[in-house]
Amino acid sequence: MSTGSPRVLPADSGIAEAAAVLRDGGLVAFPTETVYGLGANALDARAAARIFEAKARPSFDPLITHLADAADLEKLVGPVPPAVAALAERFWPGPLTLIVDRPAEIPPIVTSGLDTMAVRVPDEPSARALIRAAGVPVAAPSANRFGQLSPTRAEHVVKGLGAAVEVVLDGGPTRCGIESTIVDARGAQPVVLRLGALALEELVEAVGPVSVRPGSSGQPVAPGTLAAHYAPRTPLRVVAGAQPAPADGGRRGFLAFRERPADGYAAVEVLSPAGDVTEAAARLFDALHRLDAAGVTEILAEAAPDTGVGRAINDRLRRAAATWH
Ligand code: TXA
Ligand code: MG
Repeated sequence: MSTGSPRVLPADSGIAEAAAVLRDGGLVAFPTETVYGLGANALDARAAARIFEAKARPSFDPLITHLADAADLEKLVGPVPPAVAALAERFWPGPLTLIVDRPAEIPPIVTSGLDTMAVRVPDEPSARALIRAAGVPVAAPSANRFGQLSPTRAEHVVKGLGAAVEVVLDGGPTRCGIESTIVDARGAQPVVLRLGALALEELVEAVGPVSVRPGSSGQPVAPGTLAAHYAPRTPLRVVAGAQPAPADGGRRGFLAFRERPADGYAAVEVLSPAGDVTEAAARLFDALHRLDAAGVTEILAEAAPDTGVGRAINDRLRRAAATWH
């Protein structure tokens, strides 16, 4: 972990300064509607290399390029397949990442050598203003160290990355709380490469049947959708419902979807007392960050209903649990 701390600036008034850092090849963490991103100039191979260094991210895990406006897509990559254009039109700005051909201006390090590039327009005014002010596409993975919990607050970024990032724009907690849905719509039927904040139901309503390959089967289809990912430091186990704490004296934490479990846990987080998957997703990583800091020996996490964004929550919990198998 790096020592020292980054400059933390308000997400609105700090934009000009942050944009200058990006243009100079530096790293800026910024809020999006999903999670905080760790941004660099996507046209600058050396700047992109610094992202991999700061995150201790393997070079085979490609980055997502962020644009300020949907209209910038064709300017950067030229014409895209009709299904890709239709999805961009329908869901951008928003938590949907699309796969397109990598344009020559984007150095291969950004896409880990792939001929394709992941791209999205975030639905967060300050993020779009930052990208616009920088005047370049911004490559940004989630602003956490590789394999660790995604950051949904500026404090998570500061704690996880320290001075490895120059500037952190603080826009408060992120709205969705879970990463974007990644879709490859270049073929006959769209393929979901990562479940995320855009619900499957909404996608299907817009484009008809899709296939889902979240990569949790052990054969990652998107290079970065490794089974063990998004993990707290504390061992985590997914359970089917609220249950009493095992009476073996262990200090355990419980991550409840809706109902507070019976006594016996050293720490408890309830994601959505109303039973709403969207609210639960928004709180997921924040709750896991707190449980992780609570000094428990194990986290029991109750699965969410497998509907809407609940699927993405369960995907993240399974990946967190996979680390400890
Ligand atoms: O919500 C989000 O998507 C956030 C915010 C910051 O935009 N970003 C994010 O980035 O979650 P990251 O790096 O944590 O996840 C990006 C993932 C990679 O791990 C990989 O699975 C996939 O995007 N990806 C990137 N380029 C790809 C490509 N060319 N083909 C397939 N998958 C790709
Ligand atoms: Mg990530």
